[in-house]
Amino acid sequence: MLDISGLNVFHGNIQVVWDLKLTVDEGEMVTLIGPNGAGKSSTVETIVGLNRNATGSITFFNENILGLQTYDIFKKGLALVPAKREIFPKMPVIENLLLGGSDRTGWESSLQHIYNLFPILHERERQMAGTLSGGEQQMLAIGRALMSEPKLLILDEPSTGLSPLLVAQVFRSLERLGKEGITILLLEQNVRHALDMCERGYVLENGRIVLEGKAKDLMREKHIQKAYLGI
Ligand SMILES: Nc1ncnc2c1ncn2[C@@H]1O[C@H](COP(=O)(O)OP(=O)(O)OP(=O)(O)O)[C@@H](O)[C@H]1O
Ligand SMILES: [Mg+2]
Repeated sequence: MLDISGLNVFHGNIQVVWDLKLTVDEGEMVTLIGPNGAGKSSTVETIVGLNRNATGSITFFNENILGLQTYDIFKKGLALVPAKREIFPKMPVIENLLLGGSDRTGWESSLQHIYNLFPILHERERQMAGTLSGGEQQMLAIGRALMSEPKLLILDEPSTGLSPLLVAQVFRSLERLGKEGITILLLEQNVRHALDMCERGYVLENGRIVLEGKAKDLMREKHIQKAYLGI
């Protein structure tokens, strides 16, 4: 579905990602893990066209998307839950959700699906989004991305700033989405949760992939255990 190879990403003249190769197959849940500043967000910003200062190849269903505008990339079936969530605090929950795709036929059933997944959003439908708890705001950000019925959902560190309880809750809902067959690329620093949930993973450090493989094999790697799992 998503096929990235030889990707180099720059901010101005500074290169932050080198020769990245990553694939996501249809129906897979894949994680890109790595510490602060590794280049996870830079990679994803490039996939969705928010940063086009890059070389290499990114294809989505065998179609080149590197260099396209974000709007056109999203139209092809990609959606991003950004790290900063970017919800509109002074708008009700429902209005935030509808921004994700109320122009599409069949949006009503998408909304129903999101309310089934996150009942709290249904309960708080009329509440201003800014008054939701951090975890609820994360659910809202995920819900809004789902409104476009994406083929590939990319999440940039959804666990950031959440209590362990809420992290577990958010991951449970992602797992449910995975079981429903949605394809997910998850960027995380919460390595334990990410490897528990995903089938495959890539480890990005200083802009380079240093390890990749099945999640359960990565979990047994000495480097992962020492650097990320505190074992
Ligand atoms: N807009 C920008 N201009 C210049 N440098 C940037 C910009 N955004 C990111 N960088 C740099 O690119 C490198 C990779 O940052 P990036 O945000 O991609 O890392 P990350 O893996 O997402 O980290 P985190 O887990 O902290 O979000 C860092 O050195 C960062 O300082
Ligand atoms: Mg980031």
